[in-house]
Amino acid sequence: MNDDRMTALPFSQRPSADGLWTGLRGIDGQPLALTVADGRIAWRGAPDALPAGAGALPRHDGGGALVTPGLVDCHTHLVYGGQRANEFAMRLAGASYEEVARAGGGIVSTVRATREASEDALFESASARLAPLLAEGVCAIEIKSGYGLALEHERKQLRVARRLAAAHGVTVRTTFLGAHALPPEYAGRSGDYIDLVCREMLPALHAEGLVDAVDVFCERIAFSLEETERVFQAAQALGLPVKLHAEQLSDMGGAALAARYGALSCDHIEHLSPAGIAAMAQAGTVAVLLPGAYYTLRDTQLPPIAGLRTAGVPMAVSTDHNPGTSPCLSLLLMMNMACTLFRLTVPEAMAGVTTHAARALGLSATHGELVVGRAADFVLWNVQEAAELAYWFGQRPVRCVVRQGRIAEG
Ligand code: NIG
Ligand code: FE
Repeated sequence: MNDDRMTALPFSQRPSADGLWTGLRGIDGQPLALTVADGRIAWRGAPDALPAGAGALPRHDGGGALVTPGLVDCHTHLVYGGQRANEFAMRLAGASYEEVARAGGGIVSTVRATREASEDALFESASARLAPLLAEGVCAIEIKSGYGLALEHERKQLRVARRLAAAHGVTVRTTFLGAHALPPEYAGRSGDYIDLVCREMLPALHAEGLVDAVDVFCERIAFSLEETERVFQAAQALGLPVKLHAEQLSDMGGAALAARYGALSCDHIEHLSPAGIAAMAQAGTVAVLLPGAYYTLRDTQLPPIAGLRTAGVPMAVSTDHNPGTSPCLSLLLMMNMACTLFRLTVPEAMAGVTTHAARALGLSATHGELVVGRAADFVLWNVQEAAELAYWFGQRPVRCVVRQGRIAEG
């Protein structure tokens, strides 16, 4: 079935992937077969050593495609109103991201547009942005709030994230990012806003089942280390894992703080210090690299890849899709940029969008690897070798995507 006809079907009507998959090659290029049962990978092995009874199963021919785990996009701000092409033009004229933010643009301008949008309108615009990611093999995605900055609007964003999961058959992890920016009505009262985040917004949204993790933008144009810690304490009191937008524009010491709270991940980290690396290594915190934001902001401070590698910090790679600093809808392009700009190796980039990305979302037990018992989320690629996934850009060499046990795309 071609892509358009497949995606025109509601997810629940797309064909089951249950059965025996042959004609596949693993990431090492070796022939591989899989069986899928009830939406899980039931067996994997060599095609000449199929399990008993495999011959009677429905048959799916991979046509010689390379198979990888479904991709995981572990840091996105996918749900928002409007767009910010005007700021792109301002930056082209010489303004910096910080100058745009201080001039009333930036995150706060998307907050205005998000507050004005209805839940249905946000669902429609986010669905349209989700589609190319799904078509490219993304099977699990993180979606942050943080453009509402008031209880009803943060709720609206997180409800849309949950609706996207149900409607499109994709695993969504929601992250509450109420502490993304100071809303204009709290200008000069940042402590009061953090009180609201910790005492009202987070507990209410958690009680509604809308929060899988909690994030803060710890930066001189956003929230201080002390304010960040207050949000982490509130998260911890509710048993929620934390993550952090850390050391993107300056070294605030956020990563070490996040590591003390057992953070799932620290993200951006261009200005991460050796002490921050050591703290993350000790805590098992994932470093999420966001080359799309680095590229858009024409950043020149590279994240400390060699230090992270030496310390054994797992590195993930994500789109950071957002309307300000990374209006990017291709995780494959981020693999390319992680290699070209940050000098990751291809296996590192591959792990960065699968196993380590799953870990950054607390999904290690179910996602990110093609092993028995995991969700039947995998991608068949029309490529000769795995390196092509990072090598091409502006290309989508997908043959088909199996998501949640269904042939979802292609
Ligand atoms: O991840 N760093 C903060 N948040 C976003 C940018 C959000 C925006 O500019 O709208 C990021 O880059
Ligand atoms: Fe972000």
